[in-house]
Amino acid sequence: MSTFQAPKGTYDLTPPRSATFLAVREAIAAPLRDSGYGYIETPGFENVELFARGVGESTDIVTKEMYTLTTKGGDQLALRPEGTASVLRAALESNLHKAGNLPVKLWYSGSYYRYERPQAGRYRHFSQVGAEAIGTEDPVLDAELIILADQAYRSLGLRQFRILLNSLGDKECRPVYREALQTFLRDLDLDEETRRRIEINPLRVLDDKRADVQKQLTDAPKLRDYLCDACKAYHEEVRALLTAAGVVFEDDEKLVRGLDYYTRTTFEFVHDGLGAQSAVGGGGRYDGLSEMIGGPELPSVGWALGVDRTVLALEAEGIELDLPYATSVYAVPLGEEARRVLFGVVTGLRRAGIAADFAFGGRGLKGAMKSANRSGARYALVAGERDLAEGVVQLKDMESGEQSAVPLTEVAAELAKRLG
Ligand code: HAM
Repeated sequence: MSTFQAPKGTYDLTPPRSATFLAVREAIAAPLRDSGYGYIETPGFENVELFARGVGESTDIVTKEMYTLTTKGGDQLALRPEGTASVLRAALESNLHKAGNLPVKLWYSGSYYRYERPQAGRYRHFSQVGAEAIGTEDPVLDAELIILADQAYRSLGLRQFRILLNSLGDKECRPVYREALQTFLRDLDLDEETRRRIEINPLRVLDDKRADVQKQLTDAPKLRDYLCDACKAYHEEVRALLTAAGVVFEDDEKLVRGLDYYTRTTFEFVHDGLGAQSAVGGGGRYDGLSEMIGGPELPSVGWALGVDRTVLALEAEGIELDLPYATSVYAVPLGEEARRVLFGVVTGLRRAGIAADFAFGGRGLKGAMKSANRSGARYALVAGERDLAEGVVQLKDMESGEQSAVPLTEVAAELAKRLG
């Protein structure tokens, strides 16, 4: 293994691609910020118990994919595999649900860790932007979140994504369905591990990707036929609100999510250009999670969009975001005196809010102009001894190639004018 290699299943974000990641995070966050969601940040690790209880003892995430560790003090911690349990824990700890209006609307952005088999679009360290609306049962809230994710993706120019929608029922109707499904599954020809899954998490069996399993599932009881009237009405309302907002979705009664806390509305954003790891985001309602982790009853709903996969989706659609260049002005000094003077000019430009960079290391004109080009700067400032003697710098428009002498005292104003 080379010393310069990131750990398996991880990768570094480096310029220029890293700029796209930042822009994606920003694009997902913007509609949330505009809709009353406040920013929350929680630790990168939590007590392992939180995820075991919250995400679910029977999920792959908890049984196979958590990075757990015992601290020197004997605490059992886990790197966070997801954000929902942490955000709810933090909201409860800070009593946000008692502070004022419900729902408590929060958004977050950060790193998550799952010990998965790495492949394209699946990493052991990945990044999500998420949103949680805590403490209110209202189909408008479910619809709001789905609409905001759709809006974020559209603002990035994405078109080849689909929204899959399902209802998983509630604590009244799901247990009845679960039992009917278990009875059906127990009669099938399945391997030992799948048989175990029937007992702990039968809905996950429906998600089995193997053809020989899927073949046997054709006549499996359908959750749709077991939904109670309240769940049905709730789901119809969410569907109607999405339709009214012009958000296209597909009903997918096979949609079972990999986390145990979901009730009623569940959804996934899938992108058709990504191959196997097509889920770019997902979420749903989790009315029982607060009680599962020891809190009061707080019906809630949320989602998380994967930043890594969203960037891959942009690449799959050939979308280049219109990112402003990091640098507007690049200063090229020729000689010691010019270095001091131009560095002063650059500092002044930066203080005036104009993005400026400098040819460091005392390079020659040719090399420095190459750097100016690579920086993407619209203007270069070049000055040598003769210019300084005349009190001017050469201002070069890097697009047109035009160059003119500008008095030193007017450079900042001239650039501010030209850059608008
Ligand atoms: P999730 O479906 O497990 O949901 O993850 C959400 C998104 O994170 C996925 O759609 C995917 O884009 C990204 N993601 C997950 N695992 C990986 C991985 N190994 N590599 C790259 N990207 C990955 C949740 O995490 C829930 N907390 C969402 C939620 C919020 N539900 C309610 N509120």
